[in-house]
Amino acid sequence: LTVDWDAGHYDTGGYEHYLLKEISEQPETITRTMSGRLDERFHVAHLGGLNMDARETRSFRRVKIIGCGSAYYSGQIGAQLIEELARIPADAEPASEFRYRNPVVDPDTLYVAISQSGETYDTLAAVQELKRKGGRVIGIVNAVGSAIAREVDGGIYLHAGPEVSVASTKAFTSTAVAFALLALHLGRVRDLSPADGRRIVDGLRRLPGQIADILTQGDKIAELARKYAGHPSMMFVGRVRGYPVAREGAQKLKEISYVHAEAYPASELKHGPLALIGPEMPTVAIVPDDELLDKNLTTLGEIRTRGGQVLMVGHREPDAKLADDVIVIPKNEVELDPILLTIPLQLLAYHAAVALDRDVDKPRNLAKSVTVE
Ligand code: G6P
Repeated sequence: LTVDWDAGHYDTGGYEHYLLKEISEQPETITRTMSGRLDERFHVAHLGGLNMDARETRSFRRVKIIGCGSAYYSGQIGAQLIEELARIPADAEPASEFRYRNPVVDPDTLYVAISQSGETYDTLAAVQELKRKGGRVIGIVNAVGSAIAREVDGGIYLHAGPEVSVASTKAFTSTAVAFALLALHLGRVRDLSPADGRRIVDGLRRLPGQIADILTQGDKIAELARKYAGHPSMMFVGRVRGYPVAREGAQKLKEISYVHAEAYPASELKHGPLALIGPEMPTVAIVPDDELLDKNLTTLGEIRTRGGQVLMVGHREPDAKLADDVIVIPKNEVELDPILLTIPLQLLAYHAAVALDRDVDKPRNLAKSVTVE
């Protein structure tokens, strides 16, 4: 049994597909996720829906994030935001795995369940198992009043509006923004300084305009998609903050264009997947301007030396020897850059799917909301 949004109730707003509409809406949808939640005075986030006082907010020693598919990848971005801003150990795991391994439920851990639909059965079952064992669970959910939203102790609604296309885009970026708010909230009752709090608040406020900027590169990205979509297989690589972005980019491409894609941490290439690199397998490399820039540029050289084409997504043009094509995007704070780096990959997958004449909004074998085990 699967449940889908009744697409008949929504129109594509003049766009050719829901997916392009939802990609294009992201300046507004992330604005709604932040709306009324940013505090300029204390540089904190107001998250009343968590139902937690400051003492309780300070009490957690770990954060464990669960979700399925793109929700899980956005959770990986979330785990890094929480570790960086709040310095609380955090990790993400597919809910579908977590629920089957008799998880150790720890009273000092904050559990976070992510779901756009709020109906994904594996995520719901994991939440129920956590609750049964006395775990403290919050939700990051888009659909108000959904099963997961009703089951959790509190949470953050995305307010991203209905997502119709099967592949998640605006819910993904809104979830990452919700995690930035949560990380700010957890951080500011711990050791995140007011100056760093302000840096993140200001960075969040810049995101919508920067996404709008990236969207203006749609035609260029469509051209790149046509150039690369003919290959049977693509590699996506990133390091640390760039790795969940690479995973989500590969996921989007597979889901809607049916082009095989692998995602690896750039540092892992030499431990196996480098054997795949050659002219027939281009690489999309996530290369933000952060402390790992030099390491990432070295990886590009390694790929090119083996005859692999490189499409780099980053903040500045590298040496021409290192990339065949570059998508340059605006820079934000390093912690928030993954949100922006995701946008060109959504467009790349969308235009690849269009170029290959796929059923963009309803890819074969997939459902928007998987309510079965
Ligand atoms: C399905 C969809 C994915 C989505 C996942 C989780 O597999 O095809 O796009 O990421 O479910 O959905 P949720 O509603 O829980 O975020």
